[in-house]
Amino acid sequence: MQFHVVKAGSARARTACAIVGIHENAAMSAAARRVDRAAGGAISRLLRRGDFSGKNPEVFPITALRRGPADRILLVGLGPKAGYGRKAYRRAVFAATQWLAKTGCANAVSWLAADPVPGLDAAYAARHAVESVSNALYRTPDLKTAKKPPLPKLARFGIVVPDADSTTAERGMRDGRGVAAGMAFMKDLANLPANVCTPRYLAEAARDLAKTHKSVRARVLEEGEIRKLGMGSFLSVTRGSDEPPRLIVLEYEGGEKGDAPVALIGKGITFDTGGISLKQPPGMDEMKFDMSGAASVLGTFKALATIGAPVNVVGIIPTCENMPSGRATKPGDIVTSMAGKTIEVLNTDAEGRLVLCDGITYARRFKPRAVVDIATLTGACVIALGAHYCGLFSPDEKLAAAIAAAGDRADDRAWRMPVAEEYADLLKSNFADLANVAGREAGAVTAACFLWKFADGLSWAHLDIAGSAYLTGAHKGSTGRPVPLLVDWLLHGT
Ligand code: BES
Ligand code: MN
Ligand code: ZN
Repeated sequence: MQFHVVKAGSARARTACAIVGIHENAAMSAAARRVDRAAGGAISRLLRRGDFSGKNPEVFPITALRRGPADRILLVGLGPKAGYGRKAYRRAVFAATQWLAKTGCANAVSWLAADPVPGLDAAYAARHAVESVSNALYRTPDLKTAKKPPLPKLARFGIVVPDADSTTAERGMRDGRGVAAGMAFMKDLANLPANVCTPRYLAEAARDLAKTHKSVRARVLEEGEIRKLGMGSFLSVTRGSDEPPRLIVLEYEGGEKGDAPVALIGKGITFDTGGISLKQPPGMDEMKFDMSGAASVLGTFKALATIGAPVNVVGIIPTCENMPSGRATKPGDIVTSMAGKTIEVLNTDAEGRLVLCDGITYARRFKPRAVVDIATLTGACVIALGAHYCGLFSPDEKLAAAIAAAGDRADDRAWRMPVAEEYADLLKSNFADLANVAGREAGAVTAACFLWKFADGLSWAHLDIAGSAYLTGAHKGSTGRPVPLLVDWLLHGT
């Protein structure tokens, strides 16, 4: 898909479809009036007849136009004027794209950002449009054998902005292209079944990424090297699996040479059965998404490289399967982490923290200015926040505020949760330095506090994406989140 900025002053060329926003119970906007005039009053006639209410996100096509700026006009509802902003704008672009995808339309021009969108400057209006169009057009690589529906024809998408905003919009569009590419990369990986997307497959994807983008370096450590590093906690998770583990190390150097990097650590459990603490069967297939943190790190690197972002970032991905077997770690086993702390594994299903703690320790060698781990860590976080916000945990006020703000701007929101000694105390063990689980209460918080114990002296944050990284039910699949948040934070927030 090709995106381009169109200056309102010179928006004359005829396109296959002009997308025009209509508010509920309000007069036509300046942009709508302009298109209406050019189309000989086609929009105003239709609105007078009461054929379209402007409800968000309904669409209404006016086709077979002979004159004006387009072969078709697609009216899209923006909802009431009061409360209009990022959400309704994104939903409108998404709905318009879904409609376009079912037609023979090859190019479209959106007039939605020719009018001001409250809360969005031209850069974000362009960025959100690019993301929404890309998300609406995303198709997961599937293994269905029936004949596939034809691919959408849509190939060019223009975004009309006021002339003075075109440079700003170009910048936002570039960011949007990067974020969209990163999200698609994440979704492709996370949607794959676990018999395809193994730790070795993820490592290959990292190597491919480094091949495609000269600015990305990838190194892959195998079991022997992981053992030499002393990652006894990480390795305790892979014990029951016949698939070998990998430690993927990514480096992106877009900033000044020698500037301290940001470290992103992604949980890469390619399938989580729970191990000996076996999970219940219903929904267990969704544990193929337990590498979403890893996929989000890979997606973020894809985005940074596509954008050419001026930052230094390292990505650390401990990846393995969590399986039961005669060799698997058993409840009560005590393992030694790379940091030297001993851990009593009371529940083998709390494996994410066991791979991440060694990832955090490994990150120290890069002397990072900030460390963020991203993980589908707890069912408790799904109960607490559902799918809309991910959980954000950090004892560092500034870092937490910067990440939360990036999430707001990116429309990929994170809600701050506590990190505190009272919760960390619940992880005490009679036999080791700490246990890997506490009781049922505050499960998302105690999981975060476990990681906190390995982040001493670091500027550290943890994102629990168990609820936000993928959808279940009829729309089962990866959401590509939190790539938008991470990229926004790295570009504008650190
Ligand atoms: N991968 C799961 C967390 C999860 C659960 C993600 C549901 C998405 C949806 C994680 O490894 C896990 O099993 N956590 C346990 C922790 C418990 C044993 C303390 C959980 O949440 O039940
Ligand atoms: Mn688990
Ligand atoms: Zn897990």
